[in-house]
Amino acid sequence: MRPRASDMISKDCVRVAARVRPFNKREKDAGSRCVVSMVSSSITIQDPRDPQNRRSFCFDFAYWSHSGFFQDRSGLFVPEEADGRYADQDSVFQDLGEGILENALQGYNATLLAYGQTGSGKSYSMVGYGPNKGLVPKLCDRLFEAIRGNQETRQCQVFFSMMEIYNEQVIDLLSQGSRTSGGLRIREEQQRGFYVEGLRTVPCDSAQQVEQLMEQGTRTRTTAATHMNANSSRSHMLIILQLKQIFSKENITKQSNINLVDLAGSERQRSCGSEADRLKEGTAINLSLTTLGNVISALADVAVGRKVIHIPYRDSVLTKLLQSALGGNSRTVMIATLSPADICYEESLSTLRYAERAKRIQNRPVVNESPTERLVKELKAENARLLQRLSRLGQEGRRANDETKELRQLLTNNELQIRAIQTLWEQHLQEALRDWEQQYANITQERRMMQMHPYILNINEDAQLSGVVKLFIREGEWDIGLCDSSPRSIAIKGLGIQERHAVFRNEQRRVTLTPHPGSRVIVNGQAVSQTAELQHLDRLILGSNCTYLFIGFPSERGGDEWSRYDYDYFQSEVAAAEGIHLGESSVTGCSQTDPSLLAVFYDYIKLMPMVAEANQMSQELNKGVDFKLEIKNLALSDSKGHDLEKEIVVRVTSVGKKQVWIWSKAKFVNRKFLMEDVYQQHQAEQRETPTVEGLTSAALPRDKDPFWDPVEPLLLGTAHLWLQSLAFRIPLEEQLEVLGSEGTEEAILQAQLVPCNSTGLPLGEDDILIDPSELLGRRLDFQLVLEQCCGLRWIREARNRGVQIGFSLFDCSQPLYTPAVWHNVNPLLDHRVHFASINTSQRLLDYLQSSAVVLELWGLQDGCTDLASSLERVRMTTEGVFIIDDADPTSAAGVNSPELSCAVRALQQDVEELKSVNASLRKENHSLREQLNTARNGGDVGRGRSLRPSCDAEFARALKVFYHSMTSVRAQLQRLRRHRPSEDSDLLGLRLFTDEQSRLLRDFSEQLEQSVCALKQDVAAIVRRKRERSGIWS
Ligand SMILES: Nc1ncnc2c1ncn2[C@@H]1O[C@H](COP(=O)(O)OP(=O)(O)O)[C@@H](O)[C@H]1O
Ligand SMILES: [Mg+2]
Repeated sequence: MRPRASDMISKDCVRVAARVRPFNKREKDAGSRCVVSMVSSSITIQDPRDPQNRRSFCFDFAYWSHSGFFQDRSGLFVPEEADGRYADQDSVFQDLGEGILENALQGYNATLLAYGQTGSGKSYSMVGYGPNKGLVPKLCDRLFEAIRGNQETRQCQVFFSMMEIYNEQVIDLLSQGSRTSGGLRIREEQQRGFYVEGLRTVPCDSAQQVEQLMEQGTRTRTTAATHMNANSSRSHMLIILQLKQIFSKENITKQSNINLVDLAGSERQRSCGSEADRLKEGTAINLSLTTLGNVISALADVAVGRKVIHIPYRDSVLTKLLQSALGGNSRTVMIATLSPADICYEESLSTLRYAERAKRIQNRPVVNESPTERLVKELKAENARLLQRLSRLGQEGRRANDETKELRQLLTNNELQIRAIQTLWEQHLQEALRDWEQQYANITQERRMMQMHPYILNINEDAQLSGVVKLFIREGEWDIGLCDSSPRSIAIKGLGIQERHAVFRNEQRRVTLTPHPGSRVIVNGQAVSQTAELQHLDRLILGSNCTYLFIGFPSERGGDEWSRYDYDYFQSEVAAAEGIHLGESSVTGCSQTDPSLLAVFYDYIKLMPMVAEANQMSQELNKGVDFKLEIKNLALSDSKGHDLEKEIVVRVTSVGKKQVWIWSKAKFVNRKFLMEDVYQQHQAEQRETPTVEGLTSAALPRDKDPFWDPVEPLLLGTAHLWLQSLAFRIPLEEQLEVLGSEGTEEAILQAQLVPCNSTGLPLGEDDILIDPSELLGRRLDFQLVLEQCCGLRWIREARNRGVQIGFSLFDCSQPLYTPAVWHNVNPLLDHRVHFASINTSQRLLDYLQSSAVVLELWGLQDGCTDLASSLERVRMTTEGVFIIDDADPTSAAGVNSPELSCAVRALQQDVEELKSVNASLRKENHSLREQLNTARNGGDVGRGRSLRPSCDAEFARALKVFYHSMTSVRAQLQRLRRHRPSEDSDLLGLRLFTDEQSRLLRDFSEQLEQSVCALKQDVAAIVRRKRERSGIWS
């Protein structure tokens, strides 16, 4: 195709539309708020954490598809009111689709891109769901309508092709042959620019035909996704419609390419951990999308007159293929789709920013003319000349036989050439139609089968790919598995699918499923190993993650919609079987669940199938590593013991060497993508040159191996040593339970807090304070003593390991560590650190009274370096005492602890009560003394003076006993919080668990009761004694 210079028209900006979809189930469950608003074509987004922070964007079009609609009987989403603001598929098509069609008919290239995060409605807008047809099918409907309407003036040819770009590989979605490994090649020609070599282009002459091709393409996409266990949200789907119009009268041919692109999800995997991964996967995951962003940025800069040296079209497959659409010969429209939910704020804002940049790009579209058609034109012109010469020869009456013969020969040749050029299309079309009829027959056959037999229906994470594959279970016995040689088999492919995976039996109108030994089969969330009878709408998971819905006999089917059994439903069921659930809400959709818990739950069910797949790949590649999901309790490293925040991590264990890594969610997701790549390569190599299993994978250098990481110290668990006693200068000796992130007991740690003088000499009982505020402005010295660790689970599991304890106090940003101890299950630590506050502030006092020092147990493994205390920003005296004074005494921020559990709050109330009792006692004491003094008239003062210390000391002792008992009450509370049923517990297990739970609860309340009771008694006794004494004296 070469643009005609005369057609050069002025610059044409990329047109941009934004569309907001309704809340999805997750967002409704989370009780999401809408943070997007729209007024005509301007759109405003509000930061949910800072409602004053709003940003507005103005686009060419803005579509409100969030509310004001209902679903009519045919399933169509329609506006509630005729002139309501709801934008349905039709109104979007009218603005965007009609324009593209118009452009194409005029001979311009046109491109439509859908951009947005996964689940924001790209495919809904582009392709559509069921009766709610999207832009592509509507465009085809109208295109063929226009073609039929203009039959007199022009002859039209439409070619359709459909491809997917995944991990920089181009997959032809219409090709029936086996896929070439590495995908199709991109080539470049001067005239054509970049194109995909060998891509199948199918001639079409009806919208129905196009729709069926799209169905076929989606099916290929679905099977490719399961075979390669690839995630469709990471791939781009690209449809190219070539429209050729031959205006025979005018002797012009116009050709235009319409690119319709459903882009990969725009969300970026933000690393939630602090670590940056050793392997740079961020760019590899979607080079095409990143490059598209770079190209758009560069072009936007060009548009505002900035100097741009290079536009990186050549950096990715997608940008090569879209070169003409971006700053070139195309009229381009981008539809940016977003969710209006508060939880999607960051992503939606980033989508809007992206769209705003795209808006600035300027293209130079031109009408295209084809050289082939010019050839026909030239041939026809030549024929006309030849005919003229012939007739002249005739008129001249001269018999020039030879010349006439030659001319006639030339004429026939030309005619033949013209006919050949023109019939080629007819031939192609005929072939395509035959092919299409075959496909059509298949589809009709499939429809008939659906009315006769039970079948299983694929369910994909991407709703667009769900329900595409139907596998029928006809009467008799059928093997399901990789086997496709046997005539009585149903062939499926996917990770963890065995040669013969399971057997379906369809007998006497009952269908059963029997797994083969060693095959993973899950029915409705439960692993099965015996024959299971299937009911209509049962959920099946075969292998690592091939998910199917069972559709029973036609007589069993009601009008029930299967769409409620989506991918999340399947995964939630499996999670529930593992003991992870949201209670009833996951099924009934009530919105009571805490949003942060909900986020953790959805993270869990998102990662669960990925972990199963990673394990299967590890096994097949002989990697010897095992992956396991863990819910990390962030409370463990919180000095106030808050119990709300949780996060999902993946524990990676090398089975042989017993090395352990903990990966953040983001790191795992990225690594899994790289693992898929390695796995694909391995599969391809195995196909070409089958070797002994594992040999190829061993060849991968370690620094490129996504299954491997250098070993690092691992946080095993934490213990809380509450500091309250220090505020009273009471020594504390504790046996602390070190708890792992899932509540397991990792070790027992013996620790002490010893109030001391500045030289480190322990204080005595007489130094105990009744009122901590006496410390204000004074010096406080104490020592933290870590004596011994006992029963280290980490070392028990593998002897070649060591441990260290890390801790940081008050404002110290850098933790201090004990020296490493190795190979010992009960190592002696004997570590003593002296801390001092020279000028005790209220803030420090508050800290001591409400916080704990978090003692972190770090596990060391063979080959990793010890953790070292960084003394950089630490203040220390020459005697090695750590200073923990308030750096800035004016910034005395109150310590607020709204999330402390009720029990702890109740304890604090008790303490308050006791304090007021104490205060009134002091007052009473004071007045008693005054009475005494006046009574004795300054007589025996010595006795009066001795009264106070003895009374206070009694009181202090009572307090000390109380704080000691409080520490064990607190430990009991922690134990209760972490107490969970084991993963594989059955009904009996659960009953045992609840019994144990009630026992713990009983113990807890008894202990609490006892402690408070004892204190009250002690105080009462002190008061009584005092009264008695004062009675003697008065
Ligand atoms: N405008 C809309 N109206 C109704 N439902 C929508 C709309 N946009 C998206 N959805 C629904 O949201 C889900 C995700 O949309 P989809 O288009 O598949 O997302 P994406 O392709 O961006 O990942 C689908 O179930 C789809 O039906
Ligand atoms: Mg999609």
